Amino acid sequence: MDVVFRILQVVASVLILEVTTWHPTRKLSICLAKGKMKEDKDARWFELECVPKEYIFPMEYRPQNLDSPVCDSIPVIDLAKSKAANGHNSQPVEEILKASQEFGFFQVINHGMAEKTVTDAINVLKEFFDMQAKNTTGTVPHTKGYIYTNSTDFAKDGVHLWRENLKHACHPLEECVRLWPDTPTRYQEVIAAYIIEIQKLSSRILEMICEGLGLKQGYFKDTSEVQLLSSNLYPPCPDPSLTLGILAHYDPSLLTILYQGGSTGLQVMKDGQWVNVGANPNAFVVNIGNQLEIISNRKLKSVKHRVVNNTHETRRSIATFVNPSPDCIIEPAKHLVNELEPSLYPASQYKDYVLRNKAFGDYTAAIQNALR
Ligand code: OGA
Ligand code: NI
Repeated sequence: MDVVFRILQVVASVLILEVTTWHPTRKLSICLAKGKMKEDKDARWFELECVPKEYIFPMEYRPQNLDSPVCDSIPVIDLAKSKAANGHNSQPVEEILKASQEFGFFQVINHGMAEKTVTDAINVLKEFFDMQAKNTTGTVPHTKGYIYTNSTDFAKDGVHLWRENLKHACHPLEECVRLWPDTPTRYQEVIAAYIIEIQKLSSRILEMICEGLGLKQGYFKDTSEVQLLSSNLYPPCPDPSLTLGILAHYDPSLLTILYQGGSTGLQVMKDGQWVNVGANPNAFVVNIGNQLEIISNRKLKSVKHRVVNNTHETRRSIATFVNPSPDCIIEPAKHLVNELEPSLYPASQYKDYVLRNKAFGDYTAAIQNALR
């Protein structure tokens, strides 16, 4: 009996050795385009059976809680309430303030933007990314009027993000539009219409924040513009436990307004844990950027967030950054500073802040030059 047991032990240890030593090699050796040969020029970079090593993040960056439930406590705020009978509009103001203090994030529904404006924008961006895939010479970044970074964009320690990204300036709109991609042909018209609506929505939200903080009306009026659009394509990923769509970061904006359609993937840090933000195709996700945290003397929080990948779905997002103008001096509002609550931040010109913090990564200087 002992002999049989011993033989089984040896066989088992050989098998385990076999599995542990050859598993990674086997994984890499089958890392070919799905159903195609590796050389197939038509295969997009993400159409793979497994994750190439260039996309595998070191352990400490990898997402841990991919299966954790969607956090339903991030507030979804109905903006139609602000138009409630007899002009009484205090409820969304309070909700927005509370969400901005507790989470730094909230979603808005009944925001008044026509569905068509949003779906047109998503569709034209989809076409844009599809066209890049066929453009085999397109080893961008193309930094003329816009920046398109495909999978050759090294994000951290030489590891690629599992995404493609398009960025461009949006202010002043009439001047910027001409520098945007001109294929698809409707790109400029459709995205300009989207930006105009986002500008209206952001002004409305900033007015409510003003009211909530007790700042005078129009406090942000001359210093907040939708300056930058950053659109992402996060393709399905064979093993999302190894990759990231966007590394953990804070937004250097005043306010960010994100459209994420019906797909999850956005995670927000709450009490030391990553929580998943729910997806609602009728909502915009709004988050407080670093500049609003400064102006509010940390009454409102700019919160760390990131994007994780998923196996089956394609995530598409449009982030619009509402920023102060580059020359604007950003400091805590005088009204919010007193003996008991001294200023927590030194004053700084926004453009200096951006350059000092390399707010847009490797492209900070290029983006800063494009912003006015
Ligand atoms: C960003 C961002 C989230 C997303 O662009 O700053 O956080 O879902 N984007 O693309
Ligand atoms: Ni962000």
